[in-house]
Amino acid sequence: MPHGYRLPGLLLAVCFCLAACDRSTPESPSEAVQLTPPPAAIPDIEWRTHGNGPDEQRYSALDQINTDNVAKLGLDWYFDYPTNRGLEATPLVIDGVIYTTGSWSMVFAHDARSGELLWFYDPEVPRNWAVHLCCDVVNRGVAYNDGKLFFGTLDGRLIALEASSGKKVWEVQTTDRERPYSITGAPRIVKDRLIIGNGGSELGVRGYVSAYALKDGEMLWRFYTVPGNPEDGFETPAVERAAETWGGGPWWEIGGGGTVWDSIAYDPDLNLLYIGVGNGAPWNQQIRSPEGGDNLYLSSIVALNPDDGRYVWHYQTTPGESWDYTATQHMILADLEVKGEQRKVIMQAPKNGFFYVLDRATGELLSAEPYATVTWATHVDMETGRPVEADGVRYTDGPTGLHLPGPIGGHNWHPMSYNPDTGLVYIPKQDVPWIFATDEQFSYREGYWNTGTDAAPASMPDDPTIQAAVLGMVRGSIVAWDPVAAETRWEVEHAGPWNGGMLSTAGDLLFQGNAEGQFVAYRTDNGEELWSFDAQTGIVAPPVTYRLDGEQYVAVVAGWGGALALVGGDALKAGAIPNRSRLLVFKLDGTKQLPPAVAPQLVFDPPPQSGSAEQIAAGKDLYLRYCVFCHGDAAVSGGATTDLRGLSREQHNDWLATVLGGKHWQNGMVGFGGELDEAQARNIQSYIIERAERAKAAQE
Ligand code: HEC
Repeated sequence: MPHGYRLPGLLLAVCFCLAACDRSTPESPSEAVQLTPPPAAIPDIEWRTHGNGPDEQRYSALDQINTDNVAKLGLDWYFDYPTNRGLEATPLVIDGVIYTTGSWSMVFAHDARSGELLWFYDPEVPRNWAVHLCCDVVNRGVAYNDGKLFFGTLDGRLIALEASSGKKVWEVQTTDRERPYSITGAPRIVKDRLIIGNGGSELGVRGYVSAYALKDGEMLWRFYTVPGNPEDGFETPAVERAAETWGGGPWWEIGGGGTVWDSIAYDPDLNLLYIGVGNGAPWNQQIRSPEGGDNLYLSSIVALNPDDGRYVWHYQTTPGESWDYTATQHMILADLEVKGEQRKVIMQAPKNGFFYVLDRATGELLSAEPYATVTWATHVDMETGRPVEADGVRYTDGPTGLHLPGPIGGHNWHPMSYNPDTGLVYIPKQDVPWIFATDEQFSYREGYWNTGTDAAPASMPDDPTIQAAVLGMVRGSIVAWDPVAAETRWEVEHAGPWNGGMLSTAGDLLFQGNAEGQFVAYRTDNGEELWSFDAQTGIVAPPVTYRLDGEQYVAVVAGWGGALALVGGDALKAGAIPNRSRLLVFKLDGTKQLPPAVAPQLVFDPPPQSGSAEQIAAGKDLYLRYCVFCHGDAAVSGGATTDLRGLSREQHNDWLATVLGGKHWQNGMVGFGGELDEAQARNIQSYIIERAERAKAAQE
């Protein structure tokens, strides 16, 4: 395996272990696995696709682990990864092997019985690509077909590997490397092809989804979700029609957004492919499309013909999107009886706070009711299918008040689960308010954060009374949604927002990890907590379950990270539990123990303040433009990267080398020398020193 740069020490240890394992077993790892056939009597049940089937229900018919015995669930094995950034993958379990992805688009294959690492593949994403990512160096998983694995990389490549060895079969660049595109979502397989989208809206890109041949990576079609420059003509009739809903550009210079960065579903009977389309870029519609318009196909579910990529229907959840309201959230297909009629439906809880049930053959809206707190719209008009907006929410005449949902959404990428036994959809729901205001100084900075909104009003104020009031609105919970009645059946509160994806089973169990670092099993019918395990790190990824050699297992990757973990600051509420990246596998009567975790201690010892009040204020403004996305609101880290208030004197001495020179670029701390000058970097430092002094005073 080629390594073009220095690997972190722990990763070298993994390489060493791999070499050692190879010496002790003459067979290739895959042959070694196949030598132990499972007992014939009880067939293995695997987790072969991202959502456990093209309907993406994330439900398992396994019931060996159930409400009667889940109290005896214990850790069977775990594996620590050599990285310390967010893990969001759904592992696949195939032929006794667990395939998962980690930070920096790395792929890992484990013997599902022992946990032994069979191979790993590092696509060597340049670490300074991190600046082109809104939401951590994450990856949500691989797809599998006929002995091959497929996955996307943060720098926009699609790669096929031999599942037995991890050897590369082919690789294609799916994006223009000159633009800040990224891939974090898992590809889906439809017939003989892979479907893959990309991300990067805020950084300045135009969204699309493409199909590539499984056998050699040849591109078969591409569907653009937003129009490009009208002067260049339009690629498809669908995008030509979309262009009529945009006006007063030039959105195409920034990209327009509409990236398909996560959810995809497929109905083989209807032969329809469903894609979830993202927000506008920049967020602020007054800048993006000053003449207004719906700005199709932003924030929409679009149905395509997977054979040629042709448009079939769309439903737009948020016309004229201006709040980062993506409709990229998990989509679930199910057959439901709605108002006495059997319907093939598609269900989504997008960021905008409404739960949608659509007829998936036609796109007809069947219901849209709020699953989270919604202040931006009073309701969805069932006649027109459009939301009825509240007054002042478009921030055309000044900032909004506290607005819900905020850009992090009432629900984000964390997958839901639909349980046909209870008829409920389990949603990792959250309320995180925001104040929207136009950025009067906006100018497009390619490859950096471009929202066209001013982050300052939304930053947590220092006044403790206002802080308490805002934090009082911040919530995280599990919502058990009845999609037929279109209402919440029950709700379980968490400490705060940004909790993990869902799994539900025929054992009447609902599994979810959370921001507090617990992995929990609940009853599916009423949300009663039956079992929990201290994972020592926040969990955002969704669990999977499978049966191997007659025994049921539950697996989840634990590893705190992702958008709100980076940017959230005090709004995370569950506290800053640092990332520990690991795969956890549980079974009944499992007896493995995790090593004790050392609780990190933040020490606030800033150098003396030399900046003036003006310089500190200028530093805060720059911090909100360049640093907040990785280091947290008000310089309060959510545990996923360095808390800058806790920097040592030596680290402060290195400030310019780090912040301008990119001294730590190999760990994802890029240099900003091309954007910031020395005085600006010093102003940010003054702001950080002010934050550290404040934290120190609060501690004393
Ligand atoms: C794309 C994400 C990202 C952005 C944006 C970012 N940082 Fe960082 N930063 C990191 C990561 C990751 C680390 C931890 C690096 C390590 O462990 O070596 C870090 C570490 C640091 C450190 C400590 C380095 C040390 O001595 O270990 C400083 C100082 C720092 N960042 C300042 C800034 C400033 C100032 C900005 C804005 C101008 C900024 N960062 C923006 C990701 C980011």
